Amino acid sequence: MSGAEGVIGARELAAVLGKPEPTDQQVAVIEAPLEPMLVVAGAGSGKTATMTDRVVYLVANEIVAPSEILGLTFTRKAASELAGRIERHLRALARWRAARDGVEGGGGRGDVDHHAHLTERPRISTYNAYAGQLVNDHGVRLGIEADQTLLSEAGRYQVATQVVERWSGDLDVAKAPITVVRAVVTLAGELAEHLTTPEAAAAELHRIADGLADALPTARKKEPYADVAKVITSLRDRASLMPLVAEFAAGKRARAAMDFPDQVAAAARLAREFTVVGQGSATPPASSCSTSTRTPRSRSWRCCARCSPTVTP
Ligand SMILES: Nc1ncnc2c1ncn2[C@@H]1O[C@H](COP(=O)(O)OP(=O)(O)OP(=O)(O)O)[C@@H](O)[C@H]1O
Ligand SMILES: [Mg+2]
Repeated sequence: MSGAEGVIGARELAAVLGKPEPTDQQVAVIEAPLEPMLVVAGAGSGKTATMTDRVVYLVANEIVAPSEILGLTFTRKAASELAGRIERHLRALARWRAARDGVEGGGGRGDVDHHAHLTERPRISTYNAYAGQLVNDHGVRLGIEADQTLLSEAGRYQVATQVVERWSGDLDVAKAPITVVRAVVTLAGELAEHLTTPEAAAAELHRIADGLADALPTARKKEPYADVAKVITSLRDRASLMPLVAEFAAGKRARAAMDFPDQVAAAARLAREFTVVGQGSATPPASSCSTSTRTPRSRSWRCCARCSPTVTP
């Protein structure tokens, strides 16, 4: 279709599929080249419609196959809406193609069988569900066994509460235990999302706090301003919670449990470190690998070369 018959544009596609004409901005997104792109748009502005149209455009012009598309959203509701719209529009595209070919072919079948590939289902999911699936299929590459327990929100708090209650080390934070528990759970989630460790975060927090403390006092004013002092205290408080955050991670490991942020972090590592996973075409490795080795620096497990042929450290 592209090539001999030329590229079908976003406006033409909307017309043949009986959809509202996209705006100039939507057209720019729908027809953009296959490169990373950030689109910022407000509530109800047509984001899902534009994503749907982009998928249909890419498929209609054979730039990608439906099976090569991965759509991720935050909520199940949004994922199911996006999947439903894409499927409906791909079916409409297949019907239109079939009807057109029937006419142009001088009385061909005019049914959708001819264009069955158009109605293959793209993979649409929430970030959490997709991360869970990647970890399930490939987690063994990082030494994560398939029988891990997925902690609920309540389960996370239970583990964190035990960690805080049993903590015998110094804790330089004058806060109620429940506040500390909440902070530990939140910080652990944020570290996982940023693929960083409690040790690295503590070092960075101290570095920023030291920088602020050194920079501010002047000849006339020996102490930092009150607002700045508050920020410094808050940074140091967070740093002092990092050993608890590390203990929280250890508590989950001891229970062979993960929470959603752990799953997302593990999935991101899998996609980043194992090209075959990032390409989405991998055959999952065997569920247990007898030659797994522990890498001392990361304290994580890594499979053998057979399981991870394309590791990029
Ligand atoms: N160019 C357009 N012309 C007319 N209607 C449009 C256009 N683009 C989108 N719409 C319509 O606007 C409505 C909102 O679109 P859509 O659901 O895609 O927005 P959204 O940004 O995803 O919303 P939300 O923030 O609720 O997820 C839908 O009914 C959609 O069909
Ligand atoms: Mg939407």
